[in-house]
Amino acid sequence: MTERSPRLAAGLPDAGQGRRSLVITIDGPAGSGKSTTAQEVARRLGLLHLDSGALYRGITLALLRAFDGDLPVDRVDAARIGTLELEVAWDSEGPVIRLAGARVPDEDLRSDAVTAHVSAVAAVPAVRGWLLGAQRAGPRFPGLVADGRDMGTVVFPDADVKVFLEADTDVRALRRLRQRGVADPSPGEVRTEARKLEARDATDAGRELSPLRVPAGALVIDTSDLGFEEQITRILERVEAAG
Ligand code: DC
Repeated sequence: MTERSPRLAAGLPDAGQGRRSLVITIDGPAGSGKSTTAQEVARRLGLLHLDSGALYRGITLALLRAFDGDLPVDRVDAARIGTLELEVAWDSEGPVIRLAGARVPDEDLRSDAVTAHVSAVAAVPAVRGWLLGAQRAGPRFPGLVADGRDMGTVVFPDADVKVFLEADTDVRALRRLRQRGVADPSPGEVRTEARKLEARDATDAGRELSPLRVPAGALVIDTSDLGFEEQITRILERVEAAG
């Protein structure tokens, strides 16, 4: 780990002295850049990174396999989840998702089938309940940067620093397409992707349990026209101010 802020790293709470570990939450809609940002903030500060979307994707993948691709969300309950052989273990960087004992590769978590079903699965109360426990049970030392939709509102309401990232839908669509290797998407491709993001935003913000919301007291950053470094700097400044 290079480029870590020496001041922040030195000032991190020390478990031996009984101080609390730092918790930073980064919430926002799909494609707002939460995960890349959270990963980089965690790297610079030497903290763990919890990508909670990956956990929702893991449970969606497990359910798709259990139901042979045809997923009736109204039949998903705690008993069904208990049969999935799904495990959330942690390594030195963050959670590792295992299904039937094998680590699930990132490309499986990000497949089109998982992306198409994950918002509906994330609205199921038993799914949110199971993952709430898995997220809170993880290690907190030396500290955690958690990204998702309800990190600052529900999972870690006492976080030291809360951030909410947003960006124009077309900018988010373009980013998603480029992430998937489409170097120069046509306006039609951007429009189609933007519609998918809007549909996912509507499900995530409209559900009854833990909807996507700006947490009280959060630093809100619109990343539409902001460079990545500037975004990271604003968050690190907020962390220093909170310390
Ligand atoms: O961040 P992502 O696109 O990988 O998230 C996938 C889905 O998981 C997203 O549509 C909503 C859901 N999710 C959630 O409901 N709560 C979270 N904390 C994280 C993700």
